[in-house]
Amino acid sequence: MSLLPSFWAVIPAAGVGARMRADRPKQYLDLCGRSLLERTLDCFLGHPRLRGLAVSLAPEDPWWPTLACARDARILRAPGGRERADSVLGGLLLLAEQGATDGDWVLVHDAARPNLRRDDLDRLLAELAQDPVGGLLGVPARDTLKRVGRDGRVSETVDRSQVWLAYTPQMFRLGALRDALSAGLAAGAAITDEASAMEWAGHAPRLVEGRVDNIKVTTPEDLQRLQVVFAEA
Ligand code: C5P
Repeated sequence: MSLLPSFWAVIPAAGVGARMRADRPKQYLDLCGRSLLERTLDCFLGHPRLRGLAVSLAPEDPWWPTLACARDARILRAPGGRERADSVLGGLLLLAEQGATDGDWVLVHDAARPNLRRDDLDRLLAELAQDPVGGLLGVPARDTLKRVGRDGRVSETVDRSQVWLAYTPQMFRLGALRDALSAGLAAGAAITDEASAMEWAGHAPRLVEGRVDNIKVTTPEDLQRLQVVFAEA
């Protein structure tokens, strides 16, 4: 594994997760005894090639200080922003202050995606180590895809052979990602992940196939699915 590049990580965790209908942002919900966010951080903090990690948090987030990892000196606290892209940018700027350079790799990973496995992380690092752009974990679409009209009826069946679901981590060079996010935000472009900012800036990120169960918790059902996985582990 000595071929794996060293890297920095940004975990945007400033969202509210309204679709969970919970009393707190979803990254602070319990998953078999520990919060989603702590389980998400585990995979990175345990990696020997990690150079530094920033967690982007909402201002006056009352839940973060209650976690044991809030006292972990390896974790930097970055300012979260209005959109996910603002939160990621806040993390990138903080890492640059800590010595990260424009050519360094940065991995961005959702706070509410706690089932990232070490072999997926290592495959992403290995596959993209020499890549001129970078890329992301994803999975090919498995089900038949339908485009749906406003009336709730199918208007078209989409060719699934060319469709993937975009997962995280997403791995890009710090300078290129910072520039793409800043320019995209300034232009009002629709940026839902780091890859879409890079695409907007004219790059073609590479997809690396990952595990289907690296899911992002969005609904209560997602959390129930992961409770089964973690209870068995
Ligand atoms: O809402 P969604 O699940 O797409 O959010 C993905 C990730 O982006 C989550 O980890 C969330 O906390 C983070 N986020 C953020 N700042 C925002 C919005 C979302 O850090 N303003």
